[in-house]
Amino acid sequence: MHMSPTETGKAGTTVVPTGGALGAEIRNADLRTIDDRYFAVILGAWHDHLLLLFREQELSDEELIAFSKRFGELDWAPVQESGRRFVEGHPEIYVVSNVVENGVAIGSLGAGEATWHTDMSYMEVPPKASMLYALEAPPSGGDTYFNNMYAAYESLPADLKRRIEGLSLKHDGTYNSGGYLRQGVTAVDDPMTSPGVYHPLVCTHPETRRRAIYLGRRRNAYIGGLSLAESESLLEELWLYAARPELAWGHKWRPGDLVLWDNRCTMHRRDSFDAASRRVMHRTQIRDEVAPRS
Ligand code: SIN
Repeated sequence: MHMSPTETGKAGTTVVPTGGALGAEIRNADLRTIDDRYFAVILGAWHDHLLLLFREQELSDEELIAFSKRFGELDWAPVQESGRRFVEGHPEIYVVSNVVENGVAIGSLGAGEATWHTDMSYMEVPPKASMLYALEAPPSGGDTYFNNMYAAYESLPADLKRRIEGLSLKHDGTYNSGGYLRQGVTAVDDPMTSPGVYHPLVCTHPETRRRAIYLGRRRNAYIGGLSLAESESLLEELWLYAARPELAWGHKWRPGDLVLWDNRCTMHRRDSFDAASRRVMHRTQIRDEVAPRS
């Protein structure tokens, strides 16, 4: 990963790596006015760094959707645990918030911790990317951490790489990362029978061709064909590698921040925060063209 800022060619705009295990900040960019040449630079930086941060944006929902669509078609937002589906008129926008209006939560995940996960990996074709835009941020807490799943794969001992080659993992569709039951789903806590979708445990990124462990989320995960005890033991081993702090980079949010991440080679988690403060984020999900492949 390059450590020095890179000029992108547009006046004053630079790509500045975080210096951590992943991520770069794109400085001096107005996402409402990105031409094709500059978009190609952003795309390249995203593939190199897995995650991009853009600060001081002033985007309407329509502008957030328009920028997201530069990367591909958008998936509709999942149903929130309150039963609300999406922002009126914008089915692509998922609201992540602890704010309650007229007794109803306006978004998902509340103010609690969200555990490590990859967005919507319980789908046959999960979104390749997510974009999270901060409208309101709490003064402290609610930081989001992202990790580098290429580096997690590369750090595995050769023997462990051999053991997981060709295996498939069930990604749970029962609970979201905040521990809330998804709408319309019956609570099941047996990983062997819980609803979910199988994906290869090691996937090759269709664009970079690099390999990554694809874990999705820990709860109700199950490695097909193994006994539950064998599956749990292998998953524990893999999660020890994947969730190491040195593979992660954390972001403290300010209003106007937008983070774009690649769901095919990262996971993320969020700290809890004071429920009395407000945190309002709008997220889009960019549809992948292909299902995860080994
Ligand atoms: C998410 O999991 O997409 C939301 C993360 C966050 O609230 O920071």
